[in-house]
Amino acid sequence: MDKKRILSGMRPTGKLHIGHYVGALENWINLQNNYESYHLIADYHVLTTKLDTSHIYQDSIDMLIDWLATGLDPVKSPMFRQSQIKEHTELNLIFGMLITVNRLERNPTLKDQIRDLNIENVIYGHLGYPVLQAADILLYKGNAVPVGEDQVPHVEITREIARKFNNQYVEVFPEPEPLLTKFARLSGLDGNAKMSKSLNNTILLSDEPETVKAKLKKAVTDPNKLRKGDPGNPDICLVFSYHKKFNPGEVPEIDTNCRSGALGCVDCKMKCAAKISEMLAPIIEKRKLYENDIKSVKDILEDGEKRARKTAQETMAEVREKMNLG
Ligand code: TRP
Repeated sequence: MDKKRILSGMRPTGKLHIGHYVGALENWINLQNNYESYHLIADYHVLTTKLDTSHIYQDSIDMLIDWLATGLDPVKSPMFRQSQIKEHTELNLIFGMLITVNRLERNPTLKDQIRDLNIENVIYGHLGYPVLQAADILLYKGNAVPVGEDQVPHVEITREIARKFNNQYVEVFPEPEPLLTKFARLSGLDGNAKMSKSLNNTILLSDEPETVKAKLKKAVTDPNKLRKGDPGNPDICLVFSYHKKFNPGEVPEIDTNCRSGALGCVDCKMKCAAKISEMLAPIIEKRKLYENDIKSVKDILEDGEKRARKTAQETMAEVREKMNLG
């Protein structure tokens, strides 16, 4: 039987952080063996919140290098920029006819963004964000979409658009399922529930050990534990949440010694930094190989775009034919 198909994507915001790894990439890497995967660099989607495109190409390349360095395999799975496959915009236009403004206004992800980014006037393209995302997924007839909670409403809208198309014309599209990432989102170094570049609270996948140490030194901990000897509460400690992810073997011991006061925050943070850097070491090494051979990175992108374009063109030809627009 043919493998099911996955469409996964991220907006290119430059170098990725460990939250991206834990929340998405790790999952994609596991899935790439059991599914036929397409990995999309959603560069058009960036425009919904940032019109300045001066860094968009470099940001895309930086993200691609991180994908490659963490173990996504470009031979198995095409990696490509949305903007280089014209069919995305074409299908986006058609899909824009299959959903109401009202439905898009009810999109909770949009509401959250408007609140978080303090947006006063919503642009048309931002309202249409999920329509473009539906085109991303359905152009490749994705059966499954690995995403975090916040993107589930977009997959739901994708399903509605697929259903509407199939009912109005002929069955062309699958109704894709979200594949939820198991691990909860990693909090930022400042304790914010979200690790994000714009909040300046990240550890990058490309951070060298010295940088990781320096960043962890400033990470928030239990505010009641002021010095070694004070008893701490790991349940409310950010650094402890990192230990759970990156240093599971030592968690019971750290828990006990934090509570008793035997373990001070500085030592605890340095243990954590060492574990994170241990995980990052092979990624950093691989990243350097690609940085020193940008030509091969560009070749990977070109090859991915060629392969993605072929699939996208086939779907678009089918759509046009079924709509009598052939
Ligand atoms: N909206 C997704 C995000 O912000 C990025 C994205 C764009 C995407 N197109 C996609 C994700 C298609 C999955 C499938 O994370």
